[in-house]
Amino acid sequence: SIDVSTLTKKTGYTALDYGFVNTAATKSAVTYIDGDQGILRYRGYPIEQLATHSSYLEVAWLLLYGELPSASELEAFDDRIRRHTLLHEDLKRFFSSLPPTAHPMSVLSAATAALSTYYEDESDPHNPEHVELNTIRMLAKLPVIAAYAHKKSVGQAFLYPDNGLSFVDNFLKLNFGVLSEVYEVNPVMSRALERLLILHEDHEQNASTSTVRLVGSTGANQFSSISAGINALYGPLHGGANEAVLAMLAQIRDSGESVQRFVERVKNKEDGVKLMGFGHRVYKNYDPRAKLVKESADEVLDALGVSDPLLDLAKELEEIALSDDYFKDRRLYPNVDFYTGVIYKAMGFPTRMFTPLFAIGRLPGWLAHWREMQTDPQTKIGRPQQVYIGSPERDYPRI
Ligand code: ACO
Repeated sequence: SIDVSTLTKKTGYTALDYGFVNTAATKSAVTYIDGDQGILRYRGYPIEQLATHSSYLEVAWLLLYGELPSASELEAFDDRIRRHTLLHEDLKRFFSSLPPTAHPMSVLSAATAALSTYYEDESDPHNPEHVELNTIRMLAKLPVIAAYAHKKSVGQAFLYPDNGLSFVDNFLKLNFGVLSEVYEVNPVMSRALERLLILHEDHEQNASTSTVRLVGSTGANQFSSISAGINALYGPLHGGANEAVLAMLAQIRDSGESVQRFVERVKNKEDGVKLMGFGHRVYKNYDPRAKLVKESADEVLDALGVSDPLLDLAKELEEIALSDDYFKDRRLYPNVDFYTGVIYKAMGFPTRMFTPLFAIGRLPGWLAHWREMQTDPQTKIGRPQQVYIGSPERDYPRI
């Protein structure tokens, strides 16, 4: 790679690189990906080991601070997050001003931006204490906001966080608990969700993380930057793909169209139809996260006592696609979104909550990158160039 970062002045040359396919915007020590080999590591640790042995908060610490926490550090971190889960009561009223049909991703980004209004005096990106406090606040409050967006969409009362519960169990209770009823956390569901969240925690300079960094490079605070990242994640080519995969599978099932015929339509690019949950800018091999999700899909559905024909349909679709030259030539494999939706559905999450779940997973990565950027002396405001192709100068004619 060519490092032009020392050229702080314009050289007179501009590289035109749609989609930043060949352009690095930063150096980073957070996550390593080898897309050809299908390797993903957070701070050097293989994703397979973290997903098997670690917890969401332990990995969050690793991403944020660069090393795994000791037992006492993790306990203190967990404890601190539990103490910050409550939302200001006024912010709870914010939800009632939104329509019941509101997509939970829109609610999540709007409420995250609104959080900023409560902490304006404590949101200086250059004040390490503010940065630390708001890191904790976001980790604690965003899951609550996501759960309230869910509750609002199904017309149920919001529950207060139960700080006697672990991070994931509390989140499950906020989503599925009902007022005045005891909620028993299903340990299979809890561990499965924890694993999925770990798999999503970071993915280097993806579209939403790059958005967080770009917004953060202007000096915007964590709430504004993360809210922007949530909006970037919402799109179906990024995090929104997990919702789109389920819609695609349901549409194939309901239309009675054969999987083979659907694949033909994808290959012919009929009406721009794509195989959602397939393909990746960086992975030109099986996405290691998708491999882990696929492995646990059967196990989790069995353990939850759920049988879903959409999982069989997804497997059939994968098998046909992977043996087809169109997908082989383009090196298109399932990505992390292909199998996650089937598991979230088995857990009882409505389809529209799938992308907010991705956002809760990705939050530690967004925060880690935002923080890395703030402390990097090389950071400059992000400001891409363009190649102008419009009209040359011309005189204004009066109407
Ligand atoms: N289905 C059918 N064809 C595809 C797919 C797909 N899912 N993905 C890529 N292709 C084709 C393209 O049409 C293109 O074909 P061509 O050479 O004939 O023009 C070729 O493969 C290369 O694809 P690009 O669009 O250039 O790849 P890019 O890196 O720009 O896009 C992306 C990556 C956006 C993920 C793309 O693969 C896609 O749209 N996938 C479906 C949506 C999806 O699953 N997104 C989630 C990504 S992972 C994440 O964000 C967590």
